[in-house]
Amino acid sequence: MRVVVYPGSFDPVTYGHLDIIRRAARLCDRLLVGVLANPRKEPLFTANERAAMLRESIAETNPEVTTVTVETFRGLTVDFARSREAAAIVRGLRAVADFEAERQMAHFNRRLAPEVETIMLVTAVEQAYLSSTLVREIASFGGDVSGMVPALVARRLSVRLRVG
Ligand code: PNS
Repeated sequence: MRVVVYPGSFDPVTYGHLDIIRRAARLCDRLLVGVLANPRKEPLFTANERAAMLRESIAETNPEVTTVTVETFRGLTVDFARSREAAAIVRGLRAVADFEAERQMAHFNRRLAPEVETIMLVTAVEQAYLSSTLVREIASFGGDVSGMVPALVARRLSVRLRVG
């Protein structure tokens, strides 16, 4: 069984992430979405909240995708990938601005775990401008994020940020 890991902060999940999940799921037998529980920055949502939003969003937007599971993890992505015997790590590339950091991460991960490949998928053009940071910022000022995240995520954002 070919397992691929899609790691990230997902704080919160956006339509850009959901597009990568749908497309990456087609490339493997099981796509394991890994929600990082120990990011450097303090997240808006806990790892369990982020994982729950991912599960609900996947069920709502991609109900046909049944080979995706969501887990939280701590530590290095390559250790998580190895522990699940993953063949590869998948990441979304939005623009050239993402490339340098992703290239560095891919080299670093390859050095730590040469058997785990990195696959980069180019984000759909409609979502190329999207980021969780931007979504949090817009939501914090009461802006409309309905085209950027599923409704259930938009609702949780407004409750957490006490706006709207
Ligand atoms: O959604 P993000 O914040 O762009 O995801 C970044 C993430 C979680 C993939 C990256 O920070 C990561 O892999 N962190 C886990 C720790 C680790 O493995 N660091 C080395 C990667 S160079």
